[in-house]
Order: sequence, then structure tokens, then C-alpha cells
Amino acid sequence: MKFDPQKFVEKQTKEIRKTLGGERALVAVSGGVDSTTCAALTHRAIGENLLCVMLDDAFMREGEPERVAQLVSQSPLQLPIKILNVQERFLKALEGLRDAEEKRKAFREAFYNTLMETAEQEGCQFLVQGTIAADIVETTGGVKTQHNVLAQMGINTVERFGFQIIEPLVSLYKGHVRKVARHLGVPSEISERQPFPGPGLSVRVVGEIKADKLATLKKATAITEKGLAEHQPSQFFAAIVENTENSSYSKLGGLSELIGEFLEVLPNCVSVKVFQDRATGVKEGQRLYGDILAVKVEGENGRILKTSIESLVGLQAKIVKENPSFSRVLYAINETGKKQAYSIIARAVETVDFLTASVADVSWKSLEKIANRILGSCPMVSSVYYDVTPKPPGTIEFE
Ligand code: XMP
Repeated sequence: MKFDPQKFVEKQTKEIRKTLGGERALVAVSGGVDSTTCAALTHRAIGENLLCVMLDDAFMREGEPERVAQLVSQSPLQLPIKILNVQERFLKALEGLRDAEEKRKAFREAFYNTLMETAEQEGCQFLVQGTIAADIVETTGGVKTQHNVLAQMGINTVERFGFQIIEPLVSLYKGHVRKVARHLGVPSEISERQPFPGPGLSVRVVGEIKADKLATLKKATAITEKGLAEHQPSQFFAAIVENTENSSYSKLGGLSELIGEFLEVLPNCVSVKVFQDRATGVKEGQRLYGDILAVKVEGENGRILKTSIESLVGLQAKIVKENPSFSRVLYAINETGKKQAYSIIARAVETVDFLTASVADVSWKSLEKIANRILGSCPMVSSVYYDVTPKPPGTIEFE
């Protein structure tokens, strides 16, 4: 049956009113399509009894909290929104953590504890959140802990946080959420926006979060998003990884030969390295916290070989098939040749349901432009890579 956003809104508005009665409710708006649509829908149902907060948690993109608050507070949405500066609290909560799931769980804890305090101060018995169907599938499937899936994981929110959670969008996938957003008059800058994960840049700083690493990622994110926007992939962003190598991979026996043979170059044109930090992936439906392999191939002129993205994805499939401990394969776009602390990874994927995704066929011209701008303006970055891993065996985000 065809999805009708008007009917959905009418039904949910009635249900929200029935559940909330005259109670006050709190919603955390990140500016993503899910949370903003959820807030707009609930505001339509209960008006002034809804309080919207934007958690400025240090992991938003440059200028994002202010821009989002401005967009949703003006006509037509006119949501009552407050920005809460909780940067120190979140940085402290994630300090020193390297493991992806530990970081996600620490984020979730800080997120709900902050909301618990706000709900208490503001007399809100309910938390409304924009969890969608894909979030539940991924978390209950054990691939990764999404920041907003609680009850489905057996967490009693009334006992733990003192509020009841309602999730009006939980039956929808992203495409339907966008339809509801358009119907509610959510500005197109938000309704058509690419998804941004709740834990924000914390899951794109691969491994430990450090101040200079996070600041570098913010710069690289702005460059990467600007450079990839014209290709309109379903999702596109930058991630940052420390250049420290995994010492247990001192011998990557046979890989240079495999890559050389696949790309029809001599093995001595190929360099490979494995990072110390790992990335989340999926293997046969199960979580795989696997290793990240970086490949660089130089052509006869000593410059990086610019082979098609399609063939690089094919190469990735062959590498992963023969070396199943890898959850990511990256291909070098450009490098400075100097030893610096970090590498930036550009990622762009095409997907409909976000449960599987293919690598976007971005032009080398765009990739090189992005890499050159990053290398020119981020002094701690020595290499820029393109992630040539579909989902599976990768996931869209790195952690
Ligand atoms: P993955 O990385 O699991 O991502 O392939 C699938 C989609 O979900 C987004 N994502 C999240 N969204 N909270 C969210 O609200 C999260 O914790 C989270 N983790 C991943 C991701 O950006 C992609 O669109």
C-alpha cells in the first residue's frame, strides 16, 4: 500500500495526544531529518507542552548548533528550542576510550543522563525521540549500539532515567520520514539532508578522541562535504584515523602481489599498511570489529594510480575474501610524504534503506580536489584516502 504522509500525521497526532494527555514532553533535536520531523509532529500534537533542546555536545559540525536552532525556530516550524552547551561533559565521558562500542555506550549514557536532568528541571515526564526502523534493526541485530535504542535492548527508561519514551516514527524507514517531513513543512535544508548519526563526529574520530584530532576532523568534514555535495551521494563525510600501524601485521604476505595482479601493476608499485585502530563492519549479518587496510599504488610516473572506483571496489572484495579480518579497504588519493599524526578518509555511499550500501562512483577530479584542500589546510594530516568498502562488509559509519 502506498504510504500517505497526511494519514500518518493525523494518526500519530491523535496517538501522541492520547498518550501524553496534558503532560509536558522533551525532545532532543539534532537537526537531522528524524529528530526534527519527530519534534515537528509532536509540536503539532501538543504545542507549548513540548520543549526542544539541542545538545551542543562537541561532536556537531562547524556552526551546526546555531544554524539548526535558527532554522527550526523560525517559520513555518517555530519550535521552542534551547541550545544546551554540554561539550565538556561529553568530552569527559568519552575521554581515553578507544573501543567503538565503549565510546557508543559512554555517549548514550551521557546523552540520556543530560536529558534526564533537563526533563527533571523542566517537569517533563516524557521523552519523544525520532528512532526509526533501521536504528532498531541494526542495534538488535548486534552490529552496533545506536545512541537512541533503549527499550528494545531491555533498558527500562522509567527506572533508569525517570521518563517514558515515545517513538512516533519507529515504524518508518528514511524515505517515508522525508515524506512526512515535507508534509509538515520542515525546511528542505533539513528534510533532504543526508543523515548524521546521533553520536555525531565521535563515531568518525576512529579510536580515541583527542582535541587536535577532533578539530582537524571538523575542518576536513567541511571540505569533504562541500566537495562531494555535487555528486549527491546518499551519505558522504570524512573520518579521521591515527597513522599508528598495527604491529602484529609486520608481514602482509602476498597482499602486494594480489593487488599488483588485480590492477596489472608490478608488486613493487604497491604499498599497504594496517592501522592500529579498527572499524566496525558486518560479516554474514554479524558485527565484525575489523582491521583497516590502506592501499597505495604508484603508476610509472611515480604518481598515485587513478584507476576506476569500480575496479577498486572489486579489488576490495578480493582482498576481504582472502583476508576476512579486514572490515575496510582504503585507497590513497594523495599524501604529503611527511610524517604526520593523522590520515583523513573520505566516504560516500549510495543506499536506499541504509541497511546495505554501495560505494559512490565519485570522480577522481573531485577526490583530488578534496584531498589537496585537506592537505593544504590541515597541517597534522599526511594522507587522504577514499573508502572503497560497501556495506557489507563495512558499515556506513566507521564505528
Ligand atoms: P551504519 O554505520 O550502521 O549506519 O551503517 C546506518 C545509518 O545509521 C546512521 N547511524 C546512526 N544514527 N544514531 C543515529 O541516529 C546512531 O548511533 C547511529 N549510528 C549510525 C548512519 O549515519 C547511517 O545513516
